[in-house]
Amino acid sequence: MSHRSSPYSTQNYFDILIAGSGGAGLSLALHLADTYKVAVLSKFALTECSTYYAQGGISAVFDDKHDSIESHIEDTLIAGAGLCDPEIVRLTVSQGRQSIQWLREQGVHFTEERSSSGKKRLHLNREGGHSHRRIVHTDDATGKEVSLSLIARAQAHPNITLLEYHNVVELITARKLKESPQRVLGAYVLDSQSGKINAIAAKIVVLATGGANKVYLYSTNPHTSSGDGIALAWRAGCRVGNMEFMQFHPTCLYHPSAHSFLISEAVRGEGGYLILPNGERFMRRYDARMELAPRDIVARAIDSEIKKLGIDCVYLDISHKTREFIQKHFPTIYMQCLELDIDICQQPIPVVPAAHYTCGGVLTDSNARTDVPGLYAIGEVACTGLHGANRMASNSLLECLVFAEQANRDIRRQIDSISRPPALPEWDESKVTDSDEEVLIAHNWDELRRSMWDYVGIVRTNKRLERAMNRLILLKAEIAEYYGQFRVSSDLLELRNLVIVAELIIRCAQQRKESRGLHFTQDYPLPDNSRPPQNTILIPENSKPN
Ligand code: FAD
Ligand code: SIN
Repeated sequence: MSHRSSPYSTQNYFDILIAGSGGAGLSLALHLADTYKVAVLSKFALTECSTYYAQGGISAVFDDKHDSIESHIEDTLIAGAGLCDPEIVRLTVSQGRQSIQWLREQGVHFTEERSSSGKKRLHLNREGGHSHRRIVHTDDATGKEVSLSLIARAQAHPNITLLEYHNVVELITARKLKESPQRVLGAYVLDSQSGKINAIAAKIVVLATGGANKVYLYSTNPHTSSGDGIALAWRAGCRVGNMEFMQFHPTCLYHPSAHSFLISEAVRGEGGYLILPNGERFMRRYDARMELAPRDIVARAIDSEIKKLGIDCVYLDISHKTREFIQKHFPTIYMQCLELDIDICQQPIPVVPAAHYTCGGVLTDSNARTDVPGLYAIGEVACTGLHGANRMASNSLLECLVFAEQANRDIRRQIDSISRPPALPEWDESKVTDSDEEVLIAHNWDELRRSMWDYVGIVRTNKRLERAMNRLILLKAEIAEYYGQFRVSSDLLELRNLVIVAELIIRCAQQRKESRGLHFTQDYPLPDNSRPPQNTILIPENSKPN
């Protein structure tokens, strides 16, 4: 996919600057582009984002006979372990149907089936935590269909400028320019192909940069998920919350030649069993809902069996279903495994948990506004209150769509009253040189992700968190020194952001003196029921009111 060449001069202006070409960013761009000039940045190719790799689907209530909005709300609240914001859950869940309809209008095709009366209707999958079939999907490659359809629409739109390989280095705010009142004015953006950093001005800046799951050594995510938006917002003065709730997906393919390949929860939804090497269906010892218990429970159970038995992985077995059924429902998973000599129609799939979803993030209100005027956050980068302490499967793409629409409405309401930003200062490179020690980046990247995996993973303790924090303090100082001396590269920017995100995760985890949802610590193994559940909110030092 090619980006449009030289679409701007060094001082550029767009009405709205959106960082991120995933489901959240592109949906918002398409909503706004009838009236406004919009730029969408993606730090690699447009398709390189979590949205593209989504498998299971999008949750929405379509089975009026057996399912209801109330039931979807209840399931989401249960999975969130007391920390969901009930109003945000209702707002999101009740827009499920219209969000799916909007996607269909953008050209997205979902898998259909015939009802008993012969009428065509959406085929609905089931996943963990959902008490009914309510996952709208395109076979087992929903994200690819959504991504490609939205990209095609955006490419055809005259008001949307798509800038691939453009990486936000820093947000520009009035406060950083020593002006008031505080508001966002634009961003410094690295064009990775030319190596140049340009200032782009905008009345509104939207962070749609996805999650931070690459902070862990093993993750289901593409390498774009380095928490940039969270670190950018934090440095700009926004509050960040609930970062201890990092979700580990129970079933990532375990194979030396396959990195980050997910085996969808829909495989368990269609009857897949989790088994040990001796064939025991061990989930019966952990939860009455067995393989369809919420993710935190299943991931912890697998982690516990792997550690107890000293095994490398457990197995997910769907081979009791017919070959026809498996190939029809899971064509992508079937083919990917077959390429690795695993015939899932005949043998179980080796799986391990891996970091998958960032439930916390930049705090936003129901209109996706952050603490900095003019700065919005949508999609996985945001902490809206929908997921609480544990996201339920397939609620994330729904959140991307609903909050893109919320932001769209709010931006339209306020943009005319916002003045165009003044000329922005050029990026200053006078004090830096070319790096002579790239090895530091690779080494620190590895050390950071390994420490997070070993000490801040599925099961935590006070001691492990302390160890991780001690290492992090050293890494942070080294990276800051390096950043101050050398020209930036994409790898350096990601590392600088990841170390901040890691610190925020550990600080949140250290503040929570209980186990709840995705945060499990051996030092406080139970929820603290002596008071109402609390969100963990971190306030940056530079967030003082004007
Ligand atoms: P993303 O889709 O991750 O997009 C982020 C964008 O931001 C990218 O374009 C990236 O280049 C850009 N970006 C990042 N940093 C910068 C920067 N500094 N400068 C410029 N651009 C930047 N959820 C579901 O609901 N259903 C599912 O079935 C499902 N399956 C999943 C399967 C997998 C393998 C994975 C990884 C996730 C899955 N999820 C699923 C979660 C869901 O896909 C994500 O939460 C969602 O797609 C996030 O969308 P987003 O638009 O917020 O971010
Ligand atoms: C999956 O298909 O298992 C992923 C679903 C999700 O993360 O929501």
